[in-house]
Amino acid sequence: MPKLILAYSGGLDTTTAITWLSEERGYEVVALNINAGMSKDQDTLEERGIAAGASKVLVHDAREDFLRYFAFPALTAGAIYQSTYPLATALARPLMAKLLVETAHNENAVAVAHGCTGKGNDQVRFDIGIQTLDPELRIVAPTREESMSREAEIDYLQNKGISIEWEPKGSFSIDENIWGRSCEAGILEDPWVEPPDEAWEWTNSIDATPTEPEEIEITFEQGFPTKIGDINLDPVSLVEQLNTLGGRYGIGRADHVEDRLIGIKSRELYEAPAAVLLHTAHKALESITLSRRQLRMKQYISEEYAELIYDGHWFSRHHQDLASYVISTQRNVSGSVRLKLHRGTITITGRKSDESLYDYGLATYDRNDTFDQSSSIGFIDIWGLQTRVQAKKQLLEKTDILKIAHPPQEGAD
Ligand code: ARG
Repeated sequence: MPKLILAYSGGLDTTTAITWLSEERGYEVVALNINAGMSKDQDTLEERGIAAGASKVLVHDAREDFLRYFAFPALTAGAIYQSTYPLATALARPLMAKLLVETAHNENAVAVAHGCTGKGNDQVRFDIGIQTLDPELRIVAPTREESMSREAEIDYLQNKGISIEWEPKGSFSIDENIWGRSCEAGILEDPWVEPPDEAWEWTNSIDATPTEPEEIEITFEQGFPTKIGDINLDPVSLVEQLNTLGGRYGIGRADHVEDRLIGIKSRELYEAPAAVLLHTAHKALESITLSRRQLRMKQYISEEYAELIYDGHWFSRHHQDLASYVISTQRNVSGSVRLKLHRGTITITGRKSDESLYDYGLATYDRNDTFDQSSSIGFIDIWGLQTRVQAKKQLLEKTDILKIAHPPQEGAD
């Protein structure tokens, strides 16, 4: 039997996929569970996989690699899709594609499989990732080929003599890893409907947050977070702590209508307390360590970067090129940021860095001022030269200057 590696979450869809791939397609199925954080049912996963017909179940803890090589680089790039979504799901897919391909090579498999539907972004990210890393591998996507309802899946397994207990499914479709949780479908499909309380899992609603604020300090080294307060932490512990803390204060919730890559608009709830805290702190640190021009270029790159992650082009030269610029800027992004968390808000209350460009002597209005104010006069003379000439020649006599940005409509009085 030809061998296939399936990306296996342990849920009903991918468990059914094991049976379907072996019974209907004749593959020997190796189920690969990739834990990028917050995986549920981790203890029953192997049992289920074997019961469904997998020849073996491999479990891979990918949390540290996920943060170090995917989430933290995205953090330094400021990559947030459509200004809202910190890209948790999107960032995990290229890592999963890489691990699928690697496992296929180790196991001498001819094919890999994932559980994506034909309507989402993830199929694109998986397929492009896999095709980029090994164009020879066959890709099978059971859910895209044969979409079965939940009941049909349970019936199908039962008819094959496989009895597994399934908890009743909640009404939402959830994906989560250590960088964030997303929740869609069910009644959320009406964008006018307010999300019910049970749609949120990682974050408190505002009225359930503590009455008193809490202050924390986060330290970064060359753009990567390394410490909370005085304590050095490995990436996984650091992000887990911030998720818990931020969640308690109701931080990192978003209700977003976003544009999927394939053109569909979809409504999605996100919870990403750690990601939102870290992006906010990192940005504050950049405000003192990078120049205005660097900040502007980074702002521009961050959008491009977010989109390439969202769109599934992680393994591209374009990404590597953008990353080179980002990495170069991060050489000086070391220091600490103090943040106050209260009632769903983050307030930056302090920032410091040995590499800070903030110069007290230049900034101060008191008698320690070192800035030569007379030099501004000549600067302004040249800086405004063209605007002055143009105003005199083209603007002042011909335009009602009050209405320069709001001219009367043609045809209106
Ligand atoms: N819309 C997000 C993305 O494409 C998250 C999708 C996660 N899937 C889910 N069933 N909630 O990256």
